Amino acid sequence: MLLSALCKRKMLSRRGCKPEVLILTVVGIGGLLFLLMTNEGKHVMKAATKVSSTSPPPNVPTTPWHGPECKESSSVTNISGFADLPGHIQDFLRYKHCKEFPQLLDAPDKCGGADGSPGVFLLLAIKSSPGNYERREIIRKTWGKERTYQGVRIRRLFLAGEVRGAREAWKLNRLLRLEAAEHGDVLQWAFLDSFFNLTLKQVLFHSWLEAHCPGAHFLLNGDDDVFANTDNMVNYLLGLRGTNDGDGHLYVGQLIANVGPIREKWSKYYVPKQVTASSSYPPYCAGGGVLMSGFTARAIYKESLGIELFPIDDVYLGMCLQKAGLAPASHMGIRTVGVRVPSSKLESFDPCYYKELLLVHRFVPYEMLVMWQAIHEPDLRCGKKLQVYQSI
Ligand SMILES: *[C@@H]1O[C@H](CO)[C@@H](O)[C@H](O)[C@H]1NC(C)=O
Ligand SMILES: *[C@@H]1O[C@H](CO)[C@@H](O)[C@H](O)[C@H]1NC(C)=O
Repeated sequence: MLLSALCKRKMLSRRGCKPEVLILTVVGIGGLLFLLMTNEGKHVMKAATKVSSTSPPPNVPTTPWHGPECKESSSVTNISGFADLPGHIQDFLRYKHCKEFPQLLDAPDKCGGADGSPGVFLLLAIKSSPGNYERREIIRKTWGKERTYQGVRIRRLFLAGEVRGAREAWKLNRLLRLEAAEHGDVLQWAFLDSFFNLTLKQVLFHSWLEAHCPGAHFLLNGDDDVFANTDNMVNYLLGLRGTNDGDGHLYVGQLIANVGPIREKWSKYYVPKQVTASSSYPPYCAGGGVLMSGFTARAIYKESLGIELFPIDDVYLGMCLQKAGLAPASHMGIRTVGVRVPSSKLESFDPCYYKELLLVHRFVPYEMLVMWQAIHEPDLRCGKKLQVYQSI
């Protein structure tokens, strides 16, 4: 894959020498200036992407870019104890009002356009940081393969932001651009791809979905380190036909209820009182992998317009559901927390174990490849039902 991507890149630079391309480039720069003058910030980045050359830009900005319209909030320093908060939480508070960012990479025809989108049965929307190239490659070859299964269409998208640091961002943006050119499956926006910005990623995705794929029947929304048995998912979802074809509420995963913010500073999930005074979270499904209907995705989108960003993405979705009067539910086949598989025990890497599941956290790339292949062995015989999962 990498090889063919590199070949494409070579071709690009060779094509870049032809006079008609130079003319196009000049026209492109003209267009860019026009866009700048007409203040169409959103489109500027796309145009910039097209005209950029294969050599590094002469003046790579040295400070992270925060988008054209959205300035950091100056009132945050008035928040009591602000200076003592960890840096990423300060950042969250400074920028949580920013919900719109320019899109760097798009795939507007992923679902055959808005009108064609009812032809998509299951859309896989996988959150992936720019550096996770290997994970994306394996997912493309295994459970995330775009295909028709049981007569219905599965489509795939990766959702990404940008990395910190201009040099690194320049490199990884190029990587994503190559991947997008080869596979057409990357949505990227110009915001910092960090843990506390995952909600932002989610919200931006919902607005993309509304515009470009409103008819998709179901969505799998998850991380790039899960193993999803998408065959089983389709079977499960097809089993709902008649009662729910994507036009009714569905939101299932590993349900988490009766928990609240972690107030310990050392935790990855630390959420101080300055972010939320509430001591409880609404019920939600763990974010590693959630299956939802198009109906529910739309309800979330509508609520998200009126709910302030919250740093933990899965909790935020729980908030949107609660406001919409919809409940998340548990699906026993989705295991994202509390189990660590494959464990060192041999039997837990038994393909029969994964054949029953819908989704498991967390796999390294080669394990996904091995397992996907194994569960598709034509002569895989699974005898008595194994205990589906084990807690540790
Ligand atoms: C911060 O607090 C000071 C004093 O209460 C007030 O004058 C100022 O307007 C506040 N700043 C912002 C941006 O809200
Ligand atoms: C989220 O992204 C914005 C835009 O890049 C950035 O300014 C902000 O610091 C990020 N927030 C966090 C918590 O990383």
